[in-house]
Amino acid sequence: MTWMPSWKYHLFVCNNKRPPGHPKGSCGERGCNDLLLALGEEIERQELFEAVKVNTSSCLGPCQQGPTLVVYPEGVWYAGLRPADVQELVTSHFVNGVPVERLMLREA
Ligand code: FES
Repeated sequence: MTWMPSWKYHLFVCNNKRPPGHPKGSCGERGCNDLLLALGEEIERQELFEAVKVNTSSCLGPCQQGPTLVVYPEGVWYAGLRPADVQELVTSHFVNGVPVERLMLREA
């Protein structure tokens, strides 16, 4: 029998860091640590441990729009997230199943 995780949503949050002034920038420079903290707090507040798993990742690609995260299994991408967006994101997407269009990654 294979192991199956209990969570419904698996998030990968870029926490790549580049040196200050690097031309690509990085999610580290753009506030991913504050985002990760806010996500963890909101998931705890709403008791979503069984439904939502958050992992950090290295660069996901769209560095200029960071901090970025991708949600699986849907493959929904978010970008430019701020701690102030987290309550809406968690409630809408992970509680109600409705991704938040205004926070999604835009084409460059
Ligand atoms: S540094 Fe985060 S997407 Fe590249």
